[in-house]
Amino acid sequence: MELTKEQLMIQKMAREFAAKDLAPQAEERDRNHEYPAESLRKMGELGLLGMLVPEQYGGEDMDTVSYALAMSEVAYACASTAVIMSVHNSICCGSLIRFGTEEQRTRYLIPMAKGEIIGSFALSEPEAGSDPASMEMTARKDGDYYILNGTKRWITGGATSGVFIVLAKTDPDAGHKGISAFLVTKDMEGFATGRLEDKMGQCASDTTDLIFSECKVPADHLLGSEGDGFVVAMSGLDDGRIGIAALSLGLGQAALDQAVAYSKQRVQFGRPIADNQGLRWMIADMATDVEAARLLVLNAAAKKDRGEKCSKEASMAKLYASEMANRVAGQAIQIHGGYGYTREFPVERFYRDARVLTIYEGTSQIQKIVIANHVISDRKKRKKK
Ligand code: CAA
Repeated sequence: MELTKEQLMIQKMAREFAAKDLAPQAEERDRNHEYPAESLRKMGELGLLGMLVPEQYGGEDMDTVSYALAMSEVAYACASTAVIMSVHNSICCGSLIRFGTEEQRTRYLIPMAKGEIIGSFALSEPEAGSDPASMEMTARKDGDYYILNGTKRWITGGATSGVFIVLAKTDPDAGHKGISAFLVTKDMEGFATGRLEDKMGQCASDTTDLIFSECKVPADHLLGSEGDGFVVAMSGLDDGRIGIAALSLGLGQAALDQAVAYSKQRVQFGRPIADNQGLRWMIADMATDVEAARLLVLNAAAKKDRGEKCSKEASMAKLYASEMANRVAGQAIQIHGGYGYTREFPVERFYRDARVLTIYEGTSQIQKIVIANHVISDRKKRKKK
């Protein structure tokens, strides 16, 4: 796929920022579980936190291909920063653009587009991960408020974000059609951050529970109409999965580049290990894997930019790229041998950071359900014609 001049410029800008600002600190932040607040502030100034937001709301109004390119560059340096960027841009800003009222957009989208408020998405619960329609959290209308009760789990940015899109059941007997979406801020009565997860990877981004006890959310903070929540979440995840696929691509590319560099400088048996055919074949497989993921990511993004429905392509890109990142990060460790198993080289961090990619925003198995549903119903439609 040929990129436009503008897309190449955005890629270059994100690459330079990530190399200068994110990469040098990524290792330390991972080790200290340190949130990249200052980098996010700079990303806001550069427009990386309002990439898909229309100009009238202070955003950059860019295409999804540019967004995916920038996401990969950020992830190349720091996957923790990239996941914050993805949830914020794709699901949170995206849902406000699609479902927000003018007042909600003015109040939240404008500061979000500048990175002054970071957004998080609260769908999962202790007993409702892959099957969000079975959530237990409730929201009941009480005068000018909705009263929210329940617990959300594994929320990226739970301790650090300023605004949350929270899904809750306004009609518990109506299955997925009884779910509604709300904009919730930290200062709302009855809202608290719960336990902080002790994670394997992406340690510079916090993941927490959110606890709602008779939480009072003003009625005008309902996003969309009552009962729209499942569609808010699913359409948000279509965009989100392109973001996570692009993140996976950046991480896979970083692992490949690091493995290539190491294989050229590591000498064994009197020659660089890159001269050995066994290793060259590994690198050929890794590079092909990265390239295949790139094409799927760009294809999904381009389809979205054409205004076409892209759930299937987003799931294909997310499935393939996240699995690829795990394969390639694992191979990169293998190429580094004993050194790869230590913290001396970044491949150890890449390997840990990659692991969650096949889990969050829909496991690989969930992506296969989405893909199969589309492929099978597309076939039925073709037969009917
Ligand atoms: N866009 C718009 N609407 C959609 C849609 C989409 N992509 N997908 C489904 N819908 C609609 C359907 O049209 C249907 O509407 P009707 O009832 O009006 O016909 C409705 O939603 C229900 O669809 P399904 O019957 O397909 O729903 P389901 O309950 O069988 O679930 C699923 C489908 C794909 C398995 C879905 O539950 C799913 O994606 N699960 C995974 C959840 C997930 O990804 N969680 C990640 C948490 S977020 C996260 O990780 C963020 C982070 O912090 C990093």
